[in-house]
Amino acid sequence: MNSVRLVADAAIAIDVETIVWAGPASELPRIDGTAPEVVDAGGRAVTPGFVDSHTHFVFGGYRDEEFLWRASGVPYMEIHSRGGGIANTVRATRASNLEQLLSTATPRLERMLELGVTTVESKSGYGLDLETELRQLEAMRILDARQPVDIVSTYMGPHSIPPEFKGNPSGYINFIISEVLPRVQEKKLARFCDIFCESGVFELEDSKRFLVAAKAAGFRLKLHADEIVRIGGAGLAAELEAMSADHLLKASPEDLAAMAKAGVIATCLPITAFSLREPYADARSMIDLGLAVAMASDFNPGSCYSQSIPLAAALGALYMNMSMEEILTSLTLNGAAALGLAADRGSIEPGKLADILILDAPSYRHLAYNVGMNVVQTVIKRGKIVSVRS
Ligand code: NIG
Ligand code: FE
Repeated sequence: MNSVRLVADAAIAIDVETIVWAGPASELPRIDGTAPEVVDAGGRAVTPGFVDSHTHFVFGGYRDEEFLWRASGVPYMEIHSRGGGIANTVRATRASNLEQLLSTATPRLERMLELGVTTVESKSGYGLDLETELRQLEAMRILDARQPVDIVSTYMGPHSIPPEFKGNPSGYINFIISEVLPRVQEKKLARFCDIFCESGVFELEDSKRFLVAAKAAGFRLKLHADEIVRIGGAGLAAELEAMSADHLLKASPEDLAAMAKAGVIATCLPITAFSLREPYADARSMIDLGLAVAMASDFNPGSCYSQSIPLAAALGALYMNMSMEEILTSLTLNGAAALGLAADRGSIEPGKLADILILDAPSYRHLAYNVGMNVVQTVIKRGKIVSVRS
């Protein structure tokens, strides 16, 4: 993660949407055929596009009131168990039609693109019933086709226990395994399944039952693991060889070591820890254990109403003891790996998609140094300039 190949006075050759050459400009091979279109970065730093591998950006309503309760000291899980939190967004999302979901999600994607996000993962989990979960996933599919950012969808039915199954998480898991998963699979609406494996939400046993069923149905697995209470979600991720385990604020060193052994990616979500006023994930120990760490925004209406990749980068540098090179890797190549997409994006290499950022800065180090400020000037997605900041 710490070794980033830096090329001074570089050039990149792109054929339609694919990088075909990258290296020192003085060695750029002659390009035959039609005269190439040239984009001059003017000596600015160029990096791969960001892959935000964990968000919940399709939802109805807001939770600004809850933010203020939390600011005055009420814990996130207390709000959750009083029937607020995720349940509030579930009510608002069930009440939103497809058009409303699309029209609120669209500007969120535009903001992500300006911040340099060229691929984003997005989770359902604010419907919990069959119809609304499918509507959320359908919105993601439509948005993916409509605008430049690639969207990778995750079915997260087990995000919370819906009112219909109050006090009966196992009954709800049975319902989604038999009624919802097969529909998501048949409509090809998601590549991943995720679960809020947390004390008082879905305990280890129900989590395992859901994840085993999802894996058998062909989904890759993700877990919200050991975020608030250490219940061993990270260990379960290792046991089931999940693609990633995310949050991990309270994960045990033994479970993290098991994840490293099983090749599970550790996704850190520092803006959530910041917003919940929880201690940050121990990214330094994770990297030192040999884990691949990805960093993502966790943009959602409750615990983290922010898409700010710049803030995540600054928190990584200031509070998580990550080097700037590790931060860059976590936001690009490892984000891609957390989505199973490292073969075609996440770095500037021949054969990969031309998802490229030009920063309004002489070095990638400015990504964290400009605390909370966007230094992305130009975004190239699949070989096309799709965003320019004046
Ligand atoms: O990643 N922890 C559970 N899920 C989300 C929060 C969802 C919400 O508060 O709406 C998370 O933090
Ligand atoms: Fe999340």
